[in-house]
Amino acid sequence: MTVDGAAGKITMDAGVLARPTFAVLPPLALYIHIPWCLKKCPYCDFNSHEVKGDAPEAAYVDALLADLEFALPSIWGRKVVSIFLGGGTPSLFSAAAIDRLLGGVRARVPLLPDAEITLEANPGTFERQKFAAFYAAGVNRLSLGVQSFDSAQLRALGRVHDADEARRAAEAALMIFGNVNLDLMYGLPRQTVQEACADLAAALSFSPPHLSFYHLTLEPNTLFHRHPPPLPDDDTAADIEDAVHATLDGAGYQHYETSAYAKAGRQCAHNANYWRFGDYLGIGAGAHSKLSFADRIVRQLRWKQPKQYLENVALGRPLQQEVDVTRGDIGFEFMLNALRLTAGVPTALFAERTGYPLSLVAHGMEAAVRRGLLDPDPASLKPTPLGRRFLNDLQMLFLGTQMSTQTSAPTSTSAKIRNASEAAPLVRIEATGIER
Ligand SMILES: C[S@@+](CC[C@H](N)C(=O)[O-])C[C@H]1O[C@@H](n2cnc3c(N)ncnc32)[C@H](O)[C@@H]1O
Ligand code: SF4
Repeated sequence: MTVDGAAGKITMDAGVLARPTFAVLPPLALYIHIPWCLKKCPYCDFNSHEVKGDAPEAAYVDALLADLEFALPSIWGRKVVSIFLGGGTPSLFSAAAIDRLLGGVRARVPLLPDAEITLEANPGTFERQKFAAFYAAGVNRLSLGVQSFDSAQLRALGRVHDADEARRAAEAALMIFGNVNLDLMYGLPRQTVQEACADLAAALSFSPPHLSFYHLTLEPNTLFHRHPPPLPDDDTAADIEDAVHATLDGAGYQHYETSAYAKAGRQCAHNANYWRFGDYLGIGAGAHSKLSFADRIVRQLRWKQPKQYLENVALGRPLQQEVDVTRGDIGFEFMLNALRLTAGVPTALFAERTGYPLSLVAHGMEAAVRRGLLDPDPASLKPTPLGRRFLNDLQMLFLGTQMSTQTSAPTSTSAKIRNASEAAPLVRIEATGIER
């Protein structure tokens, strides 16, 4: 297939294979979900549960390792390029439990020597010694859920920590790990542009290598959805976004993905693998996987409720669901991820990672180029500035392989995809961990 310059003329290949074919499988990452938190935040729809008493960490680590063993035949001989311990709040677990978990993982799967190993932490669980012991256990990147450096906002968000605790945790995390992400949210209850800028300035005072900025969204099945707080209007939220982009650009951060900013060389390798449509094995309650084989791609979902997960792993059946990704979905799924990247991806990556020729998405590309949402350069699949602003519209053009190419004006600015592994595969991405 060819895409011809600014006119966006696309010629289709004669036919598209019924099944994918892979000469080389995509890189494989490992996501490990820890589903407990000190307290459930009122805006959060992640698979996280308020811990009652102590979390059953010994039993859960046993289950994770049994789950991994169960998965070994599906990843046989493949090296793991990164690990992300997401949640929930993995920093709720003791350092000894994380040490045993990572030791157990290393004993079962080959891990690249320089693999990025991220752990998500809540400042409310911060203890200097514990965080140093996480580092000694092999965690080499910390993702800290700060949300805001304003104590009044943290109260409004129902967080278990105040601004001082957030600052102390950020400072210590940078000293211990060096490689740190701070999660901030904006569009908080009654937040003004000035307040959002003050939050950003507080974050920048630590000079973190990586920052994630998420627009607070009202998710169904959350307290905030049932009782919405007074949120800033769309114009204010857009002004905050513009101010954040300008400030971070001036401070030397690359806005490399919809919600992620990094200093040079500090992009999150684990999340980059999701966005480049790599494979991932997700273990733990509710974790999602995408695994490629020579002639098919499967998605797996593990049992969501921690109790249900523990019981089913003990019975040797950690999977609640496994489905083949169809030819009809694959183009959209690839674009949903790849178009989040500011630089996009090389065009050749489509065939490499989906196992199908680019002609599968030719109609969508043609429509996107015509509407000015996709860069016409045939060497890359890259959103234009307009495409980034109207990312949902751009992504939707790839929904279904034989899309209609009728055009209409872009209608939405919303582009929320968070942590990859936690999310429903077709709708959202996180550490889950997306920095989710
Ligand atoms: C699993 S949590 C991170 C670690 C830890 N659980 C914490 O909250 O401190 C992932 C991140 O998702 C973001 N997040 C959660 N719910 C959100 C929502 N409704 N809208 C926007 N971002 C959200 C937050 O920034 C949060 O830090
Ligand atoms: S935002 Fe983080 S700490 Fe709060 S409930 Fe969700 S996962 Fe837990």
